Amino acid sequence: MDRLNDKRIVAGVTVVAVMVGAAAMFFLNKRNRTSLTSRSTLQPAYEQAIAQIKQKFEVPTDYIQRIKEGMESEFKLGLSKPTGEKPSSIKMLPSFIDRIPTGHETGISYALDIGGSNLRTMKLELDGHGKVKTILIRKSSISHELQTGDADALFDFIAASIGDVVDETAESNNFGFTFSFPVDQTDVSSGKLIKWTKGFQTKNVEGQDVVELLNNALERSGIRAKVTVLINDTVGTLISSAYDPSDGETVAGVILGTGTNASYIESKANIEKLETGEKEGVMVINTEWGNFDSPAYSVLEPTEFDLTIDKNSPNFSCQHFEKMVSGMYLGEIVRLALVDFAEAGFFSHRNSSYILTPYRFGTEFMSEIERDDTMQLIHVDAFLKRIDINNTSYQERKLLKELCHAVALRSARLVSGAIAAIVDRMGKKDTKSVVAIDGALFEHYPGYAGHIEQGLKEIGYNNVVLKLIKEGSGYGAAIAANVMSSTE
Ligand code: BGC
Repeated sequence: MDRLNDKRIVAGVTVVAVMVGAAAMFFLNKRNRTSLTSRSTLQPAYEQAIAQIKQKFEVPTDYIQRIKEGMESEFKLGLSKPTGEKPSSIKMLPSFIDRIPTGHETGISYALDIGGSNLRTMKLELDGHGKVKTILIRKSSISHELQTGDADALFDFIAASIGDVVDETAESNNFGFTFSFPVDQTDVSSGKLIKWTKGFQTKNVEGQDVVELLNNALERSGIRAKVTVLINDTVGTLISSAYDPSDGETVAGVILGTGTNASYIESKANIEKLETGEKEGVMVINTEWGNFDSPAYSVLEPTEFDLTIDKNSPNFSCQHFEKMVSGMYLGEIVRLALVDFAEAGFFSHRNSSYILTPYRFGTEFMSEIERDDTMQLIHVDAFLKRIDINNTSYQERKLLKELCHAVALRSARLVSGAIAAIVDRMGKKDTKSVVAIDGALFEHYPGYAGHIEQGLKEIGYNNVVLKLIKEGSGYGAAIAANVMSSTE
């Protein structure tokens, strides 16, 4: 009896043990399952925060349309004779480039290209079949000291880089100078800097002829070279694309990089403000669209972050469009928004120097973050560790990714309105037209070109071809120097 009871007890204990074990496994598995899924499920508070981000940076179709219309009327005003009334926010600067290359030009030319903080000096050969061959290239970056110091130091530095590539006979050669800032030109080989952009503050350059400053520096250093053509980087991009017409007729050159701007081909007859008598033919116009809607915002819809960027910039109330669009500013918009999220308890890494220091969170970081398609955003995690932001939660990573996406998407959709304005201005809405684009934002930001195309389609522009042009700004200077010096 006792033995029977013992057996029953043992059996009972075993059953209970098995049941407890099974229950434990069940709960353990369940816990594991919930912890895996919960890492990729958003908490409602984060869902709400992301919805707010999307709304804040949204550019609906009618907003793209308003950008297009607003730009077009500023283009028109910018081309007209000044009346003393409110001037256009878009300067529409004549470039005096009135010959477009055919692709058949040949010969050696030199180019000096100053973009944002990069400087390139090149010896190039035009092959007569739409291709440019680099014979020599020297790259350097313009230090913060030079960007904020005095004119002579900056131009001596530039002259030295020219000295490295020109040869003894350079004086008789073509030299194109790409200067990527707004310049008021009265002919093809000289022009006064109107105002620095993109953070440059070098003293005693605004209001001065930059070619004269450069020629003086060349003379000081005994370098035998002379600038024959001065152009903007957008003009270089247009000219460079036109030199290889295999993809169709290029109508405009656009830069989407540190800064943003566009140039296009206009009939001289429409450039009312042009003083010269000749009204036949065409001329490339450097729009300087980055200044659109400045000094007062009336079309653009800035967020509090855009307003902070403008307020703290060395060029307050200028370049409003550029500050919402270009690579110099997108990372800073994200950083400012992250600081706000940190204060509201959504992001616990506010002490990282990348979050604390203005302009330390670069637009290239956003590209890295957007590229991660993994469920748990593991690449974002790894990337953030590289910039000293450790132990992020899935919620935080997702918030950050959505923020980057929203800021870049807004930029591209604003640009689509601007490109449509140019295509319309040229009467090319219904014909295939090539818009040549250079700049890291366009070239490297994931999905960026597609967002522009989508925006264009939404407002009925289906014939625009966006063509990536690499090195266009520098090559274009060499090509323009060749074309403009030809006697034909
Ligand atoms: C300048 C333009 C330039 C653009 C792209 C802007 O900040 O004002 O002249 O074309 O940047 O580099």
